[in-house]
Amino acid sequence: MQLALTSLRGADRLKHMVYVARILPKDVMDKINRFCDAKVWEGELPPPRNVLLKNVAEIDGLLSLLTDNIDAELMSKAPKLRVISNYAVGFDNIDVQEATKRGIIVANTPGVLTETTADFAFALLMSAARRVVEGDKMVRTGKWRTWGPMILLGQDVHGATLGIIGLGRIGSAVARRAKGFGMNILYSDVIRNEQTEAQLGIRYVDMDTLLSQSDFITLHTNLTHETHHLISSKQFHKMKRTAILVNTSRGSMVDNMALYEALQTGRIAYAALDVTDPEPLPADHPLLTLDNVIVAPHIASASVAARTKMAHMAADNLIAALKGEMPPNPVNPEAFKKSSTFHIPMAS
Ligand code: DGY
Repeated sequence: MQLALTSLRGADRLKHMVYVARILPKDVMDKINRFCDAKVWEGELPPPRNVLLKNVAEIDGLLSLLTDNIDAELMSKAPKLRVISNYAVGFDNIDVQEATKRGIIVANTPGVLTETTADFAFALLMSAARRVVEGDKMVRTGKWRTWGPMILLGQDVHGATLGIIGLGRIGSAVARRAKGFGMNILYSDVIRNEQTEAQLGIRYVDMDTLLSQSDFITLHTNLTHETHHLISSKQFHKMKRTAILVNTSRGSMVDNMALYEALQTGRIAYAALDVTDPEPLPADHPLLTLDNVIVAPHIASASVAARTKMAHMAADNLIAALKGEMPPNPVNPEAFKKSSTFHIPMAS
């Protein structure tokens, strides 16, 4: 196999071929280029589908973003593909089952964005509770005429009840912040975590209890078939009329039109979203006609430090898998055995 590869690419080109779906920091690209022959998509927007399909034909590794749809069709056009390293902790953009079937390792970037994302979830929660964005708009549009006892009254965060759906890494980090704000914390998850419950003094409840008792509800589960539209009109009808919904996970966990109706009719009070369905949310989307919603452009992990660590982690995963090693953050470690059968020695 190695000989065949040598004659195909020339002795000096024993490097693995990879496609990097967006420009990454220079030191990360240097790291990748030491081991790989990298082609980089330099556009500001994601590579169009036809470009992506064309460019995967010869590659051994792909560094993808959450905006790239890595499905069975793409994998069928990439017969040499050994690793898909996603620059994200979420991997709902990848057909992992198909990758596993084909012995393609999928890797992600967990951990390094946990605290940063939790910071942002809390920023959204606070902004919605205290109507910060509406206040800013009022000032900018010249509508701030005086201090007034009834102007932009919001809700207290301290002493309120927070319902966390999904107590994984990010959900737990949000719970720690909420604890500092003196909130009463409930959570719901498919797996109960008694250790975190004891550590933080939080309470495990069923979904209906969480929906009906929480003043703030924040979503932190993975997007799967089961969690698609996890929050729809039935769930909104179980919430308090004063409830505030925060979503920093994936947009399609919430049924957008049901959310619009809930906000517009006062079924719930407010929503603060970092993620939407679709992304980007068109500027003429009905949700954007409402004052009681804040929409951020999927930036919860967007701190310099977190994004730098994510880029390095994605590069490290890519390189390790191409070296025939188990990447540090595999999503489907079971694919490793299949994949290592095809290992080609790496040029250094
Ligand atoms: C992720 O990593 O999945 C986030 O949504 C992007 O910050």
